[in-house]
Amino acid sequence: MSRTCKVLLLLLALVSGLAARHPVRERKAIVVAQEPHATEVGVDVLRAGGNAVDAAVAVAFALAVTYPVAGNLGGGGFLLYRSAQGETEFFDFRERAPAAASRDMYLDSSGNLTRESMIGWKAAAVPGTVHGLETAHKKYGSKPWASLLAPAIKLAYGFPVSYALAESLRFSAKLLDRFPESRRIFLRDGKYFEPGDKLVQPELARTLQRLARGGAKEFYEGETARKLAAEMKANGGLITQEDLRNYRTVMRRPLEGSYKGYQILTAPPPSSGGVGILQMMGMLEPSGYEKYGAGSAAAIHFVAETMRRYYADRSEHLADPDFHPVPLSALLNPQYLAKRRASIRPDRATPSDEVKAGDFHLPESAETTHFSIVDPAGNAVALTYTINGGYGNGVTVPGLGFLLNNEMDDFAAKPGVPNMFGLVQGEANAIQPYKRPLSSMTPTIVLKDGKLFMVVGAPGGSRIITGVLQVILNVIDFGMNVQEAIDAPRFHHQWRPDQLSLESGFSPDTIELLKQRGHQIRSIPNVALVEAIVVENGFLAGGSDRRAHGKAAGF
Ligand code: DON
Repeated sequence: MSRTCKVLLLLLALVSGLAARHPVRERKAIVVAQEPHATEVGVDVLRAGGNAVDAAVAVAFALAVTYPVAGNLGGGGFLLYRSAQGETEFFDFRERAPAAASRDMYLDSSGNLTRESMIGWKAAAVPGTVHGLETAHKKYGSKPWASLLAPAIKLAYGFPVSYALAESLRFSAKLLDRFPESRRIFLRDGKYFEPGDKLVQPELARTLQRLARGGAKEFYEGETARKLAAEMKANGGLITQEDLRNYRTVMRRPLEGSYKGYQILTAPPPSSGGVGILQMMGMLEPSGYEKYGAGSAAAIHFVAETMRRYYADRSEHLADPDFHPVPLSALLNPQYLAKRRASIRPDRATPSDEVKAGDFHLPESAETTHFSIVDPAGNAVALTYTINGGYGNGVTVPGLGFLLNNEMDDFAAKPGVPNMFGLVQGEANAIQPYKRPLSSMTPTIVLKDGKLFMVVGAPGGSRIITGVLQVILNVIDFGMNVQEAIDAPRFHHQWRPDQLSLESGFSPDTIELLKQRGHQIRSIPNVALVEAIVVENGFLAGGSDRRAHGKAAGF
């Protein structure tokens, strides 16, 4: 090939980004969220001088309107915050079990699981979202609360349905159709929404208006609480006015760890995700797995084996720390992780039956969404919140206009029997009144030399943890830009079932090599939907997952 030809190819490659997609690069601020109206709401708040927490509150309320599959008032989540000065805080506004919940509430008379932990009124745990957003706003917000709800209220009075939303509603029609208010609002009583139609939600708009005036007190003690509790009672649900009045956000210390000189700030229990990321990183760090190259069978195998080992621990040791002593330091102990690493055979999958949870004798004292925000001052928010399954338990509360969660299914409704995400969980995560179900949500912030480097998180049930891990590894170990790191095909192993799940995009010979190592291969549509921001060369680079329909934008 001539020199001119080589130079031309190189230039073309640079323009086209060497086949990798470019992130959105901005100087000052970026919002990445899974629905474009909500991204724009966040950018507007930042342009008007609001900070990352102001923007997060506005985006979360907007998503509750424009992204009903996961955005919510009737669910819960986690917000990880880091100020530009380095102050950190983790707001745990996870739902919790109502007072009347009990261990075997989802078993029938023969001891078999019913579907009530997933569908209908009884599946709902006490929502935390409004409380969590207000708590974060009181501590770090700078703009008036009502001004942050205003864009959501406007959207609730009507916004154009996208192709993605029309498709998502149609896809979930079977669930929504079971509950009259959901059928009326989201399925127009059978006249399905087409792209371009307007979705108008006046009941939700009025609920948001009351919240704008009365704050979280309105949701937990006011008209909203009274209506919600009355509907619960009339329909066999468990949540009472007292449950609502007693709900509290818990402020926790973020979990901290390190990987190859980067500092990791992540989600503590009742999330299982932060422990997962740190355990897997602990097993990976000195292994040299990355020398095999991104996407190679050898690297996939090694990472999958760390996943398998972590999920065995998850099933036994992780739960709401206010109810079950989580042996955090034992789980993250470097010697323990070195032993786990040493048990990985480079050429052979270890059958899950041979992998047990660590034996620590000394106890120590489906839909979700994520967005990441960095504001012009350098404050960062990673927020993941959820109603669990797509459109939660299917129920829209009459008169209030919002869907309820089915987060009770994140408990071990029957210890030892897989839940909605196929997770096998133990006694530690059994149902108890007021307890928070174990979560996989993993909002995470990565620092380099003490400075903000990455803000990341995802929905995806049990696959959140492995999805977030792989995107961080792709950036740190394989030098990918954030969009490339998100776009690369992902894989997942969760110990039980003993399967290595692959997205499309892996080559047939890679899959063959994994089979030869003894992996049972399964294909799955996706491993989480990751939204991330990376600080690079004085720019903020935002990556929005190609698997979702979101948007990165900023200025
Ligand atoms: O907290 C959890 O782990 C689950 N409720 C998350 C659910 C989820 O991500 C579903 N989305 N695809």
